[in-house]
Amino acid sequence: MLKTAFRSHSCNELNSKNDGAEVKLVGWVDRRRDHGGLIFIDLRDRYGITQIVTDPELSGAAHAILEKVRPEWVLQIVGKVRARPTGQENKKMATGGIEILVNEVKILNEAETPPFEISEENDENEEIRLKFRYLDLRRKRMQKNIVLRHQILQATRKYFYDQGFVEIETPILIKGTPEGAREYIVPSRVHAGKFYVLPQSPQQLKQLSMVAGFDRYMQIARCFRDEDQRGDRQPEFTQMDLEMSFVNAEDVMTVNEAALISITREARLDAKIKTTPFPRFTYDEAMNRFGKDAPDIRYELEIADVSEECKDCGFGIFSGTIEKGGVVKVLKVEGGAKFSRKEIEALEDAAKIYGAKGLAWIKISEQLEGVPVSKLGDSLSKKIVEKCGGKKDDILLFAADEWETACTSLGAVRIAAAEKLELLKGKENEFAFCWVTDFPMFAKDKETGELASMHHPFTRPKNPADLDSDPSQATAEAYDIILNGYEIGGGSVRIHERDLQKKIFDILKVSDEDAERRFGHILRAFSYGAPPHGGIAWGIDRLAMLFAGEPNIREVIAFPKTNRAEDLMLGAPDLIPDAQLKEANIKSLEEKK
Ligand code: AMO
Repeated sequence: MLKTAFRSHSCNELNSKNDGAEVKLVGWVDRRRDHGGLIFIDLRDRYGITQIVTDPELSGAAHAILEKVRPEWVLQIVGKVRARPTGQENKKMATGGIEILVNEVKILNEAETPPFEISEENDENEEIRLKFRYLDLRRKRMQKNIVLRHQILQATRKYFYDQGFVEIETPILIKGTPEGAREYIVPSRVHAGKFYVLPQSPQQLKQLSMVAGFDRYMQIARCFRDEDQRGDRQPEFTQMDLEMSFVNAEDVMTVNEAALISITREARLDAKIKTTPFPRFTYDEAMNRFGKDAPDIRYELEIADVSEECKDCGFGIFSGTIEKGGVVKVLKVEGGAKFSRKEIEALEDAAKIYGAKGLAWIKISEQLEGVPVSKLGDSLSKKIVEKCGGKKDDILLFAADEWETACTSLGAVRIAAAEKLELLKGKENEFAFCWVTDFPMFAKDKETGELASMHHPFTRPKNPADLDSDPSQATAEAYDIILNGYEIGGGSVRIHERDLQKKIFDILKVSDEDAERRFGHILRAFSYGAPPHGGIAWGIDRLAMLFAGEPNIREVIAFPKTNRAEDLMLGAPDLIPDAQLKEANIKSLEEKK
């Protein structure tokens, strides 16, 4: 299959069965070794490595050429396969039983000395890797990651195609769509002073495809969000975007669960899915038990609520918080009594990032130790230990705060403690999927007190009547899919009625005029027989990152941006010549001054 005018085989294909065959190979020089007259070259292509050898006695001309080649030069060699003598095979390599005795060598291209070694990773700084990404991508790990990503995409397309989904490409130059991030804008040359916006997701377009009657849509879609970057975020990323008509939440979740199981089997045959059907938690339950709405359930650590017990406990930090409407939560860490002060301080630091003021603790050794014990008294301390199922050698870690802060700060402590205790050791191939459902419709802005959509404004309330009583308490018909503690996807059943959609805009304080200007198209479409519909989008980069066992999504994106949204290889963003700015009707800041 790989045979071309340049080669007869790949560098991963030949073995002792080919002994004696005349072959033609191409590839890059991975390593070159000079062994007392003989020269050995590891020739590398996308598929693997084959050892090449020249003997000056048998082929002087080829030998003379190989004497001068350097790493990363591109060679074509013609030679004969020969089985390696017994004892000299390399069992770790597919081609380790043979080598090619060279007759002819052609240098297809020379190479400068690369800025880092390709055949070995030496922890070089990421900037240099990104600047020379095409060299970084030659490495085995990166090639494997990119091919794995390709397999995920192919398996995804195939799965949904087989289920009758239609891939519809939606435009990139659109009008703003609210997913909560800042938008990238593109000036119009034809319409001076007007702008396109790049899609944060194809949300409205897929809903409009439902109005158009397509029924089952999916797209591998590029999305753009101008937000602060983290390890699991990029300014442009890829979604598997899906929408279905005449479905409820259960229908969407069922299709997606089956899809994820099938794709895991296709792309990561060695992975063990922890539980099927995927466990489900409501948002409240996930927050209360795991302190995160994207819980990692590969380990057990759970949080308990002891507010009831601590109501009149006399320990001001606890009872005072409860009086003000807060809660007292406890994380029990099995075997945590051995944590040193320094280790507990590190856990406290993790809690503080989420707003906790401190982290009180009780250690269970021969007796109970820790500040709360003296404040709560023996009997209440024991009652709390009992409620948490605490045993000798465990530690209880307390957060007293308003509900969300108490949950999220213990959620962070839970992750830090699991890391400290190496609870994930040996679980590299375990995939723990779960669903989180019943999100609040709205989140309150801490400063302004205004409501904002928790998901997006097209999400359907579970019970539309709640919007009339107290919208801040309304629950959404929304679901997130989680893998190993990462939100890999989220979706919802949508609003398909014009009036209900208008009501949401009213709650969000979008004026009629603004609603018409920003969302007139979708409100109009809803008055032309919009079917009930719902959908989801997966973050393909996050999925690929977890499938590849990598710590950040840049490792599974061929040409990613830095945390400062730069492409170091291309040098983007970049200045643009004045003439081009003028044509795009943009005044440079200099001119404006
Ligand atoms: P949401 O905003 O939750 O939903 O995005 C869906 C999934 O996309 C991934 N994701 C990202 N990945 C990398 N970099 C980013 N900056 C980034 N932002 C999001 C996450 C997330 O779960 N239109 C809705 C979907 C719907 O309702 O159908 C949406 O975009 O894995």
